[in-house]
Amino acid sequence: MCGIVGYVGERGAQDLIYKGLARLEYRGYDSAGIAALKKEGEAFTTKVIKAPGKLKELKQYWGQIDFPSTYAIGHTRWATHGEANQVNAHPHRAESITLVHNGIIENHHEIREQLLKQGVKLHSETDSELFGHLVLAERKKGLGLLEAVRLAFSQIHGASAFVVMDEKLPGTMVVARNGSPLVVGLGKGENFVASDVPAILDSTRTIYYLEDNELAEITKQAVKVIDRNGKTVSFRTVEIDWDLDSIDKQGYPHYMLKEILEQPRALSDTLSAWLDLAHGKFRLDSAVHSKRSSGDAKIIRHEDLIEAFSKATMVNIVACGTAAHAGFYGAQILEKWAKIPTRAELASEFRYREPVLRNTDVGLVVSQSGETADTLAAVKLMKQNGMKVFAICNVRDSSIPRECDAVFYTNAGIEVGVASTKAFTTQMALFSVLAGALSSAKGEISADQEKVWVECLGHLPEVTRHYLEDYSSVQKIAQKYATKKGFLFLGRGVYFPVALEGALKLKEIAYVHAEGYSAGELKHGPIAMVEPDMLVLAIAPQGEGLLHSKSVSNIEEVKARKGTLLSLGAEKDAQLQKISETYLKVPSLSFPDLLPILATLPLQLFSYYMAVEKGTEVDQPRNLAKSVTVE
Ligand code: AGP
Repeated sequence: MCGIVGYVGERGAQDLIYKGLARLEYRGYDSAGIAALKKEGEAFTTKVIKAPGKLKELKQYWGQIDFPSTYAIGHTRWATHGEANQVNAHPHRAESITLVHNGIIENHHEIREQLLKQGVKLHSETDSELFGHLVLAERKKGLGLLEAVRLAFSQIHGASAFVVMDEKLPGTMVVARNGSPLVVGLGKGENFVASDVPAILDSTRTIYYLEDNELAEITKQAVKVIDRNGKTVSFRTVEIDWDLDSIDKQGYPHYMLKEILEQPRALSDTLSAWLDLAHGKFRLDSAVHSKRSSGDAKIIRHEDLIEAFSKATMVNIVACGTAAHAGFYGAQILEKWAKIPTRAELASEFRYREPVLRNTDVGLVVSQSGETADTLAAVKLMKQNGMKVFAICNVRDSSIPRECDAVFYTNAGIEVGVASTKAFTTQMALFSVLAGALSSAKGEISADQEKVWVECLGHLPEVTRHYLEDYSSVQKIAQKYATKKGFLFLGRGVYFPVALEGALKLKEIAYVHAEGYSAGELKHGPIAMVEPDMLVLAIAPQGEGLLHSKSVSNIEEVKARKGTLLSLGAEKDAQLQKISETYLKVPSLSFPDLLPILATLPLQLFSYYMAVEKGTEVDQPRNLAKSVTVE
């Protein structure tokens, strides 16, 4: 988390930094700050402004840095150590040194004690400030800035990225990266550094993705990269060939609503690359090797992917949050249809539980941002065990794709709302493509079944568009239930991940207590909570089959205990409709295992309107960040 931007060149640095930070606010919005160097006579002094809250809060202090400067750094924070107030906001100072930091210094207790014993006066509660004093101590020994930062960097543990400047050395930034993303942007007579490419894409497309344990010294004329041992690294830049999507709200009150309603387009853009509609076939020839510093993006052959997955002794799907819920859905359909042993789990658990991993297993990670720290660590763990690792990801060339063997990109477009919506449904759609392609290649489904599946996916964007036409009707339902004490989402089979996702979304943006459960688990505990003031949201759109009738029996048990029932069911499911206080119809599909995608839509809208009702910050809910780059 946290966004970093730095600039050195000829142009007005403060505006460039502010604009860059605005593109990084998804990484945290607890506080923001900018430091710019001001020439006073022959010397330079550092002027810092910072403010708790959103980036725009900085504007009230703008007058303090409104002078000509061509050298500045900035930061938008997601608080880890120390509350989100002005003192703890970055940049931090240690005499002539100023720095911004993204990450966690794990040995900060020891360093703090050591510095306090030396009589160093610390101002903030942050771990980041400590690093400035480590650099300063090295500078006082007469070392250059790059060497001082390198030695300070060797004293800290944990994932971090730093940008450091020293007013005694105007025009030189030193940056260091281990585990937290950092890119260097190269321009003509100017250079940049940022946590992510969009922050600087208006100014340059020539990028070097710093690798872990690399440092760089950046001036307006040159960039020098070294490794942790001080050895010069000959680095290779890449040219960014994508553009930023529009991040305009287009008249909608919130990005989240815009992104919910964009799902027909997002699904269409995602699916069109993977379906041969003319022949009713899946095709997997759109997966790519991601762009790494060492090479260019390359298409992977359909046959190679089929072989990698079909031979897998186990497919390990690993992800966090909403992406993990998509993974839980993916595991069910991959195993059910392609008959490949598959498990899905949370990256934060997976990386530490010492799983048995064989080099014949395959990894498949899911991430909207491509930056999630736990998911990235899971990729590295699987790679260390000799596994091939693939990613389903939305953000091009982000850290996770760059570590994986190939990427299946969801073309959902930029997702601004912290609550993930279109990323989730496009991830589920891609899992469906993968399961379909593999089951067809392995002969688990007939050509006719494949055709039905492909056609159903092909029609999905249109069905979704039609289904969302009446989206505002969900507002009345949210208003009706807004004061309920608790919310229990129930689903079985492929609807269980939808129940988990429905509950997560509601907690995340409406700040109410919600749980997602398998309906079959109801009587193993949660049924005790059922009472009229608990809204039970039952997700059972498939109107037939054994599992459906079992789900309906579970839902009947809620009714028998005077629970208030809001059900999502098939148009003709009279039984479910009869027992429900409110009934939302889900259209039928010729391939029913795609219904979870449709069932997700009213739940997203329900959370959205609940949040509107509660008056929360829908797009930037409290305590959260869009990209979780610390564990
Ligand atoms: C979703 O609404 C959440 N904001 C969160 O759970 C998110 O899905 C999770 O942090 C994983 O992010 P990623 O997809 O970018 O890896």
